[in-house]
Amino acid sequence: MKGDFTVLSGLRNDAAVQRQLMIEPRKYSPAQVRAWIRRRTTDSSGVFLVVDSGGPCGFVQLTRVDRGRVTADLGICLARGARGKGIAAKAMGLLEMHAKKKLRCKKLTLRVLRVNHRAIALYRKLKFKILEIKRRHHFDGAHWRDVVFMEKALR
Ligand SMILES: CC(C)(COP(=O)(O)OP(=O)(O)OC[C@H]1O[C@@H](n2cnc3c(N)ncnc32)[C@H](O)[C@@H]1OP(=O)(O)O)[C@@H](O)C(=O)NCCC(=O)NCCS
Repeated sequence: MKGDFTVLSGLRNDAAVQRQLMIEPRKYSPAQVRAWIRRRTTDSSGVFLVVDSGGPCGFVQLTRVDRGRVTADLGICLARGARGKGIAAKAMGLLEMHAKKKLRCKKLTLRVLRVNHRAIALYRKLKFKILEIKRRHHFDGAHWRDVVFMEKALR
């Protein structure tokens, strides 16, 4: 949908989001955004969903859904106007349910920059545990950043 594309394109091109999601910091043309959406939505070992709360406002995703090891990597990103309203926790809850019931996942994993205190607070609140912290693991174009690896068992 057109509204979805506008929101996703805005997020893909937001410099702060690019840093937080550890993607290459640059301008993404509409064709490149379309290619990214196509990659995510056709990825047979992934799930990509637009978050809607009175209109599209972000996305959640599972990548590397490993049916053998019953694990998946989780990602979430909301537009600024949708933050601080409990939408993130709700979307994460629905994604967890999908991972558990539909995909039979037993564990979710994720990576987050140590400086992303807000995201880490959200994950802690949702009972994700810190597995390890890799020091100076990610180069964001200017600095080497510590990366926190977290996981949650789905029961
Ligand atoms: C990460 C993200 C999904 C969190 O959603 P959100 O709606 O902003 O989260 P909340 O406002 O519910 O905040 C989560 C918790 O962090 C706390 N918090 C808010 N800002 C904070 C800050 N700067 N430092 C520490 N904690 C903070 C909140 O108080 C809240 O805890 P509470 O519910 O117990 O009060 C959202 O901020 C986002 O999309 N950010 C950009 C992309 C991103 O960083 N994605 C994660 C990459 S791994």
